[in-house]
Amino acid sequence: GLIDVHTHITSQPEDYYADIFRRTPIDVAVTAHVYARRTLEAGFTTLRVVGASEYVDVALRNAIDKGQVVGPRLKVAGLPIGATGGHADLTGFSPYLKFGGFDNVADGVDAVRKLVRQNVKYGADVIKMIASAGVLSEEESVGAPQYSFEEMKAICDEAAMWGRKVAAHAHGTEAIKRAVLAGVASIEHGSLIDDEGIRMMKERGTVLVADVYNDDWILAEFAKMGYPEKIIEKERKVGRLQRENFAKAVKAGVKQAYGTDAGVYPHGLNARQFRYMVAGGLTPMQAIQSATVNAAELLGWDKVGAIAPGRFADLVAVDGDPLKDVTLLEKVSFVMKGGEVVVAR
Ligand code: ARG
Repeated sequence: GLIDVHTHITSQPEDYYADIFRRTPIDVAVTAHVYARRTLEAGFTTLRVVGASEYVDVALRNAIDKGQVVGPRLKVAGLPIGATGGHADLTGFSPYLKFGGFDNVADGVDAVRKLVRQNVKYGADVIKMIASAGVLSEEESVGAPQYSFEEMKAICDEAAMWGRKVAAHAHGTEAIKRAVLAGVASIEHGSLIDDEGIRMMKERGTVLVADVYNDDWILAEFAKMGYPEKIIEKERKVGRLQRENFAKAVKAGVKQAYGTDAGVYPHGLNARQFRYMVAGGLTPMQAIQSATVNAAELLGWDKVGAIAPGRFADLVAVDGDPLKDVTLLEKVSFVMKGGEVVVAR
């Protein structure tokens, strides 16, 4: 079975302003299972969910584990931990605009530690930290650091106390290095990584999770959904560079795991990224391993990621040889999860 370690399974964008102002957490909770089933049917039997509001990801994981809802096995992060005015905060709107619900914004070492504890308390398997600015948010920068080293270190130390790994959203050159030094398990996006960052990741075995497909989708679709030009412009800045830097990291031998940011593009199309990873220099076998053994290792889960005694019987089949044509993984003909056939075409 394939594994995608960077997803937001609970939702996907439809309309920029309606998503913010009309869609409620209840709407999100009601529709999340649809995306879960779609993703499983596409051959992804395990997902890491790196950020969701209101612990909808925890509820979905639990319902799937109990067999009440059909979907992939989930390892979830709960609330993404981010700074005021940063990528995981709602930025660019009236200061008088307030939404209720759980607050995922924390500043300072005490507050970030507390949010790690809260996430663990409410069911998180992994911790998501917003180390740098981002694309799909209205702050100006795409890569500026958004936490001090002390804050990043506090998040990593606290997570380790609870036996959790940290995944860092980091596009920016400096933020990547800070997060690596603070002790994160993976750098998500990694778009503006430089040679020193590559060296540091290699030395420490930090895993790169580069979502190298979704630039195509964002540039083709997001203007139609009413996304501000400012955001599209940030994607234009970062998307191609990310692919170039990914190729450099591959060449240097940085460990890769397959993470696509599904939920930015429609759930179920997760396998589209394989061909981009091969274009970036991975062999088809390495690309498949990034979505199986490497992904399982990053999850720290020895029950998934390989077909072997003692593991879940999760597997997919395609018509043909994916080592010759990796795009075959975009249309799997057979999916089994835990020994049960989910798809047989
Ligand atoms: N969630 C990410 C962000 O907003 C998506 C980045 C997508 N673009 C890319 N080139 N990978 O920052």
